Amino acid sequence: MHIRQATPDDLEAMWSIFRSVVATGDALPFPDDFSRETFREHWFGTQTAQVAVTEAGVAGMYKIGANYPGLGSHVASATYVVSPAAQGKGIGRELVNHSLALARDAGFMAMQFNYVVSTNAPAVELYKKLGFAIVGTLPKAFRHRKLGLVDAYVMFRLLQPPGA
Ligand SMILES: CC(C)(COP(=O)(O)OP(=O)(O)OC[C@H]1O[C@@H](n2cnc3c(N)ncnc32)[C@H](O)[C@@H]1OP(=O)(O)O)[C@@H](O)C(=O)NCCC(=O)NCCS
Repeated sequence: MHIRQATPDDLEAMWSIFRSVVATGDALPFPDDFSRETFREHWFGTQTAQVAVTEAGVAGMYKIGANYPGLGSHVASATYVVSPAAQGKGIGRELVNHSLALARDAGFMAMQFNYVVSTNAPAVELYKKLGFAIVGTLPKAFRHRKLGLVDAYVMFRLLQPPGA
């Protein structure tokens, strides 16, 4: 498995993975009618997209960019998606680590996730293991397809030592 910058040739594979994960209704807050064109704009617009590639092709991806522009632009944010068939095999961990290194190299001081569904154990546990703290809870912010209203977390970690 290797991670490289996504190209427009990866769009179909990425879109297919994204759609299959959105359809589960347990992790990402996008509607079923979210369009391919909007996906393309989100992933190939101002953000940098990376893909994890195995012998079978694109198995996962992330996008990264500033969480806010202007005076908030030193804090990054990212979104990770691993193909359902490839989850639980360490690809997510590699993607997050890759994004932390990329963010550090780009000069970001911190990484923030704005909307981690509290019942999404793979994501919450992975982020905690990689140094993120839950810094806020958004009560009942996500309408889980099976569980109904559940909380979402804001998770945060510094990328450089405080004061550096
Ligand atoms: C969240 C996601 C990116 C993690 O990627 P992954 O490849 O499945 O995760 P990994 O195999 O790298 O697992 C890394 C860690 O996650 C945790 N984890 C993975 N699956 C888990 C599960 N079912 N329950 C609890 N923790 C789990 C473990 O702590 C694991 O650490 P370990 O290797 O020490 O056991 C992936 O599951 C995914 O794409 N989910 C759907 C989209 C999504 O939720 N994106 C994040 C939105 S905030």
